[in-house]
Amino acid sequence: MTTCGVRIAGTGSAVPDRRLTNDDLAQMVDTSDEWIRKRTGISERRVVDRESGEGQFTLACTAMQRALDDAQMRADELDLIINATVSAEMTCPSNACRIGAHIGAGTAGAFDLVAACCGYVYAINLADSLIRSGRHRAVGIIGCDAMSTLLDYDDRSVSILFGDAAGAAVLVADDDPDRGCLHQVMEADGNGWESLYIPRKEADVAEGAVGEHIKLGCLRMDGKGVYRFAVGKFQKVIEEALQHTGLAVDDIAQFICHQSNVRIIESAKEKIGLPDEKVYINIDRYGNSSAGSVGLCFDELRRAGKVVEGDRVIFVAFGGGMTWSSSVWKV
Ligand code: UT7
Repeated sequence: MTTCGVRIAGTGSAVPDRRLTNDDLAQMVDTSDEWIRKRTGISERRVVDRESGEGQFTLACTAMQRALDDAQMRADELDLIINATVSAEMTCPSNACRIGAHIGAGTAGAFDLVAACCGYVYAINLADSLIRSGRHRAVGIIGCDAMSTLLDYDDRSVSILFGDAAGAAVLVADDDPDRGCLHQVMEADGNGWESLYIPRKEADVAEGAVGEHIKLGCLRMDGKGVYRFAVGKFQKVIEEALQHTGLAVDDIAQFICHQSNVRIIESAKEKIGLPDEKVYINIDRYGNSSAGSVGLCFDELRRAGKVVEGDRVIFVAFGGGMTWSSSVWKV
């Protein structure tokens, strides 16, 4: 191991222009703006325009390029690209390889990472470890999902929740070993896979769901089950991160949480006693964008000057798998 630290040299994000409001959804299924706002905190979400070629690939490319511009770096200075997603257009090649080619990253290593909504936090943890190991010097990470390409818009229990977005960051080696990730958790329990999954063929469909209306290639979710899991997990993961690092709530500038459902975030906030201004919320504008959400929040916070150099932040996420993760940073 080297003794270097890790610096976040730049961040970027991207969302499609097309808006899908709650009222738009109410034209498609039996739902209402009032129900969606009350149960999820969402007013609208963004969705890609597939006919014009938009998708996970294009959103991820835009966010990565913006992060490079912010870092004032060229793509060929990256030596690795990690694209966290569940909605890549193809499984082979990885979208990360195509992103690298598109932005001009030369022969930088590239792979997609599948950890559902935990994607960005898994990626930032991994990138920090790879840089500290001395194997890599500059890593581009992207959390991006075009969830609208995986939804059955006839299924109101799932379709109202998700939107499309990308968040990216450029991480580089830094002389200060105390800079970067101070503590990280990446865990999973595959026994819970049936709570959130995308069946590709009949045989993938969970046993209990036989006979239900199932659209292959579309996300299936046990909303209540995931909700219960998430409420407990968010609180536990944040408390563990504070305990392990010896940091108090006052020492943390922002708790950057996966935007799953505003009620899940509010519940953790109340139980731990986190002040409103330290828990960023943008789910009202973008919905739950899976791997896109944490990076999108982080980029908006940096742009608004709410996270500045030297601040400590905690990234937290949970998602399909089931997976959960945290990352405490000195940025
Ligand atoms: O990123 C990680 C992935 N996922 C999550 O974090 C999801 C976690 N879960 C949730 O966010 C919530 O469970 C949902 C937003 C998905 C659903 O909210 P809920 O409060 O758990 O609703 P529910 O499923 O308990 O349904 C309550 C009622 C039911 O009607 P009855 O049985 O009480 O008559 C549903 O049929 O609301 C009905 N309902 C709806 N009504 C209007 C369910 N979906 C809708 C809808 N519009 N879209």
